Amino acid sequence: MDGNGRWAKEQGLRRTAGHEEGAKTVRKVTEHCAKIGIKYLTLYAFSTENWSRPKLEVEFLMKLLEKYFISELPVYLQNNIRFKAIGDLSKFSKKLQEIIKKTEKETEKCTGLTQILALNYGSRNEITRALKKLTLNNLEINEHNIQNCLDTATIPDVDLLIRTSGEVRVSNYLLWQIAYAEMFFTKTYWPEFTTHELDDILSDYKKRERRFGGI
Ligand code: FPP
Repeated sequence: MDGNGRWAKEQGLRRTAGHEEGAKTVRKVTEHCAKIGIKYLTLYAFSTENWSRPKLEVEFLMKLLEKYFISELPVYLQNNIRFKAIGDLSKFSKKLQEIIKKTEKETEKCTGLTQILALNYGSRNEITRALKKLTLNNLEINEHNIQNCLDTATIPDVDLLIRTSGEVRVSNYLLWQIAYAEMFFTKTYWPEFTTHELDDILSDYKKRERRFGGI
């Protein structure tokens, strides 16, 4: 979800207004994915590198996340959406950690879309934590065991990765899980990303031939 800051700047607004507008897009896209029968939607909301942003912006994002989870719980339940967080949550305030855990718990029986938010997430951090778990439990290092120790252990690999805002890079996101993902890069800034554009990308995705290394 890239381009909140640039979108805000172009509108003559503060960067934080871009994040607020971006949160609205999160809701629209999530509800749409639930409606059209997508099973998993993972959104990169805060990276392990995002702590280096100005203190006020980081504080704003933390508050925005708190507000988002509180207002979103009824939306998750109404739409049968299960929520799950990935990333190292221990760096967040106790309050935010509790809200995240509560949202996971209260939506755990929902059977429609699983919305996964990557929070203080970085792939290298995730893989390192997974390898530490393997070593601690004296488990053999193989693909199956690594997979089972990732934050996404219970989630299938990524089929389709979309990055908004015109940047063509992956930025430490789900590096293990995107091994065979189809990639889409759009110039649209995240606050302006619409469900129509998502539908167009999905139509294009359906036409792609996925060979997973075969012929
Ligand atoms: C990257 O774009 C975006 C982020 C670091 C934050 C993403 C946050 C949201 C979409 C809103 C909050 C999320 C939820 C789930 C409530 P950027 O801000 O770096 O934009 P720029 O590259 O144009 O500066």
